[in-house]
Amino acid sequence: MMQADTEVHKGLEGVIVSESSVGFVDGQAGRLVYRGFNIETLAARSNYEEVAYLLLYGHLPNQKEFENFKATLRSTMELNTDTVDLIKSIGHKAHPMSVLRTVVSYIGAKDPKSNSTDLKDQEEMSLRIMSKFPAIVGTIARASKGLNPVRPDPKLGYAANFLYCSTGSRPDAEQEKIMDTCLILHADHGSNASTFSALVTIATLADMYSAVTSAISTLKGPLHGGANELALETIKKVGKPENAEQVLSKMLANKEKIMGFGHRVYKVYDPRARILKGFAESVTHKNGKEVLFQTAEQMEKVMISKLGEKGIFPNVDFYSGMVYDSLGFESNMFTPIFALARVAGWTARSLEYVKDNKLFRPKAKYVGEIGPKDYIEIQKR
Ligand code: SDX
Repeated sequence: MMQADTEVHKGLEGVIVSESSVGFVDGQAGRLVYRGFNIETLAARSNYEEVAYLLLYGHLPNQKEFENFKATLRSTMELNTDTVDLIKSIGHKAHPMSVLRTVVSYIGAKDPKSNSTDLKDQEEMSLRIMSKFPAIVGTIARASKGLNPVRPDPKLGYAANFLYCSTGSRPDAEQEKIMDTCLILHADHGSNASTFSALVTIATLADMYSAVTSAISTLKGPLHGGANELALETIKKVGKPENAEQVLSKMLANKEKIMGFGHRVYKVYDPRARILKGFAESVTHKNGKEVLFQTAEQMEKVMISKLGEKGIFPNVDFYSGMVYDSLGFESNMFTPIFALARVAGWTARSLEYVKDNKLFRPKAKYVGEIGPKDYIEIQKR
């Protein structure tokens, strides 16, 4: 029998766990592809709903397919009163990511289809979950400020409805384009931690609500989706460009991780960060916060000079917070916005995987006492 591989691949680093045609991350070339389209092309020319369709179904929709898809999403985007009441009951106390996790789980508990493992039902659940995210995340944003909910407007697109449900005002074309592009950039990203969580869950033939709840729970962590909130806090802590060298040197000397930098796959500049950096520069200039951007840019220069050789560059989380901040969001809403986008990748990859399913069951290398040991009664220990 072949000698089993006894090497431990901590964090599954470098281990290929599945095949997928949904998207590809080229960490050496700094290239991100969704179904063969470069992220730059989609960011410039597409919109989030079209990209969600592309990720889910493998091709860009024609006009009829697109209208049907949008109509399906709009038909279930409203929240029931009890769901709104749940958000209002915990929305001003708990972190918005904890509220989001709770709400998706609650909606799933009420959905009779959530006991089905039928592929068609899993796909319907995927669209129902995605359709409700703009209203769920928008209502959470308002509840965290003690504001009453705003019902989604069926005439608005996914990104615009999220802004409308969050602020109570319909966004202008520029605000909608910025948010829509941010959602495209965050829609999918290979076998990242939260997507992997979704796969592990769906592979047990659990329902899509369970898979998305697993993914939301995983995205919350500061080493993953939670980094955007902390990255902006670090930029504000540095305060001005001339402080960057000293503050970062001290943090690095203390072995602190600088949020928004480094990546398990990208060993060059994250292509999403390039696009977000452009938005960050224009929105901070527009709202008179140029110093914030200049500070971030100097931090980038310092980090690349110190750690660029180790393949540490800005990632998607470094500039995104500045963009959301300029759109009026509190920093604790940055990761829920990440989830609002990633729900497309989570569901697309879960549906793809479960069609050719295999339960995940890795091993752990046992390094404990092999025994067998004698059992000693408690009175004699
Ligand atoms: C996302 O996987 C995805 O695709 C994720 C994502 C997506 O779209 O889904 O792209 C979104 O999660 C982006 C990453 C957001 N997280 C952060 O910005 C947190 C800060 N980054 C680091 O924690 C780190 O870079 C990771 C966790 C992202 C990746 O780390 P790895 O690949 O596990 O590498 P490592 O932690 O083992 O670090 C290798 C070396 C270490 O130094 P040495 O011990 O070798 O001396 O690089 C150093 C680390 O200390 N290092 C950093 C650093 N990142 C790595 N040092 C300072 N600051 C950092 N940010």
